[in-house]
Amino acid sequence: MTERVRLRPLIVAAAERLATAGVASPLPDAENLAAHVLGVDRMRLALHPMVEPDEAARFTALVEQRSARIPLQHLTGTAAMGEIELAVGPGVFVPRPETELLFAWALAWLETLPHDHDPVVVDLCAGTGALALAIAHARPDARVHAVELDPDALTWTRRNADDRIADGDTPITLHAADVTDPALLSELSGRVDLVVSNPPYIPDGAVLDPEVADHDPHRALFGGPDGLDVIRAMVPTIARLLRPGGATAIEHDDTNGGGVAALLAGAGFADIVEHPDLAGKPRFVVAARHSKP
Ligand SMILES: C[S@@+](CC[C@H](N)C(=O)[O-])C[C@H]1O[C@@H](n2cnc3c(N)ncnc32)[C@H](O)[C@@H]1O
Repeated sequence: MTERVRLRPLIVAAAERLATAGVASPLPDAENLAAHVLGVDRMRLALHPMVEPDEAARFTALVEQRSARIPLQHLTGTAAMGEIELAVGPGVFVPRPETELLFAWALAWLETLPHDHDPVVVDLCAGTGALALAIAHARPDARVHAVELDPDALTWTRRNADDRIADGDTPITLHAADVTDPALLSELSGRVDLVVSNPPYIPDGAVLDPEVADHDPHRALFGGPDGLDVIRAMVPTIARLLRPGGATAIEHDDTNGGGVAALLAGAGFADIVEHPDLAGKPRFVVAARHSKP
């Protein structure tokens, strides 16, 4: 019979291996992979000081894949947004922690609405459906629409939407459409309370980590020479969709806070506020529509 193995030295060695490979957060990644193999929460790893030999072997194999710069979330198969877990993998953008701040702002803004109607929310560039589904989970009264163009990404959006319905959440409405189409969602013109978007916004030619450059779909990443191509095309549509008093929150490249604010001001938006991300970099802009476009 093969003996059980102590976990902590395995994790420490794995973290050293990942650090050598250039992984940005080696110890948390090693712990997350161990937690994934054991099927426990990372915070409860200390309750599992010994592991079976086959568990140790699976962990070591995953560490090797991570040291080849395969994204952690592709190895565990999930990423979080708010209180929900989303299935992720090749073909779809991995939701990022920084987008949680935009999500938190959206929930707080929805709280300010009067209770005279069910809020209508649109997520432009939905990817896994992270924002749309997390909002639908947190606000079962909301009627949430999600727009995504990429057929591969849409496979993941549909899968996650089905998973959320199976968990009892209110279904969202999924639109396979181009957010740069000026006629997008014309049936919702002037009826939307909140538009959220984490669009492709990296300026063309930016140098990216291998996890991003080799695994996130390029259509999810790049927003033209200045990173604003998709945002520039979306802003008039957002203005048309929102009812007077409605609001929007748009994530952007850290070089473009002022650029997005200027686009919104040019389209007649008011109460424009630039927000930083967890690292203190400019990351999303919010604005309100006070009159008809
Ligand atoms: C940065 S990802 C964000 C995904 C998701 N909102 C999130 O926060 O995880 C941008 C998404 O926009 C989609 N996309 C890019 N151009 C689009 C377009 N013109 N119309 C609709 N979706 C588009 C990409 O396929 C990708 O899924």
